[in-house]
Amino acid sequence: QGQAGDTGTIASVESQNSAASASITVMYGSQTGNAKHAASDYAEILNAKGLTVNLVNMADYKPRKIKDESYLVTFVSTHGEGDAPDDAIEFHEFLGGKKAPKLANLKYAVVGLGDSSYEFFCQTGKDFDERLSKLGASPLIERLDCDVDYEASIASWTESLTKKLEELVSASSGATQVVSQSIASASQASVFTKQNPFSANLSESIKITGRDSIKDIRHIEISLEGSDIQYQVGDALGVWFVNDQALVERVIAATGTNGDDQIVIGGDSFSLADALSEKLELTLSYPGFVQAYQLASENSALADLLADKTALRAFLEEHQIVDIVEKYPSKIGAQTLVDALRAISPRLYSIASAQSEVEDEVHLTVAHVAYEAFGYEHQGGASGFLSTRLEEGAEVRVFVESNDNFRLPSDDNTPVIMIGPGTGIAPFRAFMQERDAREATGKNWLFFGNPSFTQDFLYQTEWQGYKKSGLLTKISLAFSRDQAEKIYVQHRIKENGKELFAWLEEGAHVYICGDALRMAKDVETALLDLIQEHGQRSEKEAKEYLVGLRKAKRYQKDVY
Ligand code: 2AM
Repeated sequence: QGQAGDTGTIASVESQNSAASASITVMYGSQTGNAKHAASDYAEILNAKGLTVNLVNMADYKPRKIKDESYLVTFVSTHGEGDAPDDAIEFHEFLGGKKAPKLANLKYAVVGLGDSSYEFFCQTGKDFDERLSKLGASPLIERLDCDVDYEASIASWTESLTKKLEELVSASSGATQVVSQSIASASQASVFTKQNPFSANLSESIKITGRDSIKDIRHIEISLEGSDIQYQVGDALGVWFVNDQALVERVIAATGTNGDDQIVIGGDSFSLADALSEKLELTLSYPGFVQAYQLASENSALADLLADKTALRAFLEEHQIVDIVEKYPSKIGAQTLVDALRAISPRLYSIASAQSEVEDEVHLTVAHVAYEAFGYEHQGGASGFLSTRLEEGAEVRVFVESNDNFRLPSDDNTPVIMIGPGTGIAPFRAFMQERDAREATGKNWLFFGNPSFTQDFLYQTEWQGYKKSGLLTKISLAFSRDQAEKIYVQHRIKENGKELFAWLEEGAHVYICGDALRMAKDVETALLDLIQEHGQRSEKEAKEYLVGLRKAKRYQKDVY
């Protein structure tokens, strides 16, 4: 197996290329790595065609340089409620702002990456497309909105784009190829990737919430022995999983198909049972499935649902794929069923360990999604696999997804503020292991919250140990259900506003991990409030203060 797509050699031209019109800028704004991988792969393809390519991370791009570009191909992902990834925020705002230049000479193409189980699917890609076009740039090809199984759709889209670029760029004068430097990738080279994962073994899976807890959270240990995999604290682990056999059987029954039916995916032949177990998404539902299933089944109730966006959203929240086919059973045939489903995709978990402490192990903190609905026990795809279906010692396919947007300060004297309620605690356990091993002298402050002290204080003895040894300077806890009124981490942040602001002024880095939709937003508001109050700043100045922290990489988020 060769190297990962993003570690290869890419021709890069900076200012020394006089024939600027001959260079193609391939740009990415990535949060979990997919946009980056896709952009790097595409840059390699163009490079192999002899075209001059400049591959850049949006975070490292001077927005004003856009007016000098002739050809721009943008790969950008979307998060939460249509939010741009951190690396894209500045460029995204610039293009929509007053200072954006006219771009009549620019030809561009946009790929949006997203997850169609979310409402604001590919929103950031749509924004880029709209903003570039408003500034007068012309599209080379219609925008592509990709789902989590993006590989195949990108491959055929880029094929058309490449043809177009070859015509245009070779037609422009001085299209000499300049290979000036290889772009060192931010991620470390590993032979194990999403497409070529390592077959690791599950060493341990322990429930770490109490028996009376409303949550089921697992501490998972996986052995990477024999892989030579190196990860850094802040990285995520990609985990491939196998669907629950019971789900597979229920989908087969509801569609009147047979597990032995032969089907084709991407030119390869499989039995339907194998495809449903390992190749196709059966838990998360998304509009594309309802659409395809409705077309095949000609179900009128589903047609009505598709016509009502709000109702469709609510329905998708409540129904897994299996619930949809059981509610509206139809003999649609094995291949039609397979074509309606999207490819299974691995789930990313923030790594909860440091190799300086655990060597060739990797630890995760996994919330086991499990609930009763429509008379059946429902489970999350990967969390159910890791928590209940995978026996200790059994194989689990994994790969490391590096995350340069969540890194400890390089200076060990720098103070660190960690805000990680629920499973958001995971990377901070890794941070502390690493700071312990490095004998880092910088102060450390943890904000943690969960429903109950007795049931849900994750890794309690470890935190107490760190507190005792002095490594952990301060711990602020918010147990939401231990009293009549809810107490959350943001309340603790507010109570400690003065001290927290003092830490910021001393140069502290702030990290948030966990729930994106509510927690991270409420925490950000609390931070802005305390900057206003204790920094004597206006609302606008507080926002600028936080933007300054983000640009200095002192405010980093790993939220989901
Ligand atoms: P709750 O379920 O009692 O409301 C960690 O998952 C913690 O997140 C839980 O204690 C949960 O409390 C809490 N939580 C829910 N909404 C939150 C919000 N907006 N901000 C912070 N924590 C929240």
